[in-house]
Amino acid sequence: MKTVKLHDKVFEISIERAKIEKAILSIAEKLNDEFIDKEPPIFLSILNGSFMFTSDLLKMLNFNSEVSFLKLSSYSGTSTTGEVKELIGFNKNIEGKIVIVLEDIVDTGITLEKIIESLKSHNPKEIRLATMLFKPEAYQKSMKLDYVGMEIPNDFIVGYGLDYDELGRNLPDIYTLKK
Ligand code: IMP
Ligand code: MG
Repeated sequence: MKTVKLHDKVFEISIERAKIEKAILSIAEKLNDEFIDKEPPIFLSILNGSFMFTSDLLKMLNFNSEVSFLKLSSYSGTSTTGEVKELIGFNKNIEGKIVIVLEDIVDTGITLEKIIESLKSHNPKEIRLATMLFKPEAYQKSMKLDYVGMEIPNDFIVGYGLDYDELGRNLPDIYTLKK
């Protein structure tokens, strides 16, 4: 079993790159069907974790779109703190536009709820939610996720943009914390 050590912890490979790419492609195909004759939406990528997902997804799309980035954080170490801090203010004009939020992973849903709350005050025409990964067992909210790449168990993972205290984001596969 392929493993990596990040800080004090060992992680073992759990989702290979090809499978992640297939999950992203499934989102891209849905979007390509739905946006073929719609006005260009704005993708809003939530940093840092979503950078790889955003880059891969956008290359698979065949309609015009804008992309912008928003930075927040709710994790410290390997468990959620429940506190969401907005780190970089949002200054994009989204009034009357279709916004598609891009998340790397939805865990409790606290981060996403906070993002949606603040986006609503900018009067977009519509807000849709897309996430590469979703932990249904950890989800505490009722917001509908419009595009989900893959559902995963409630374990702490790294790779493909996701980190353990800032390490592991560059890994091209996903690794799970070894128990
Ligand atoms: P939520 O607010 O609990 O839904 O957490 C969302 C954010 O926490 C994500 O955007 C990630 O940045 C981070 N996160 C959630 N689960 C994991 C994980 O398993 N590994 C690394 N980061 C995670
Ligand atoms: Mg994130």
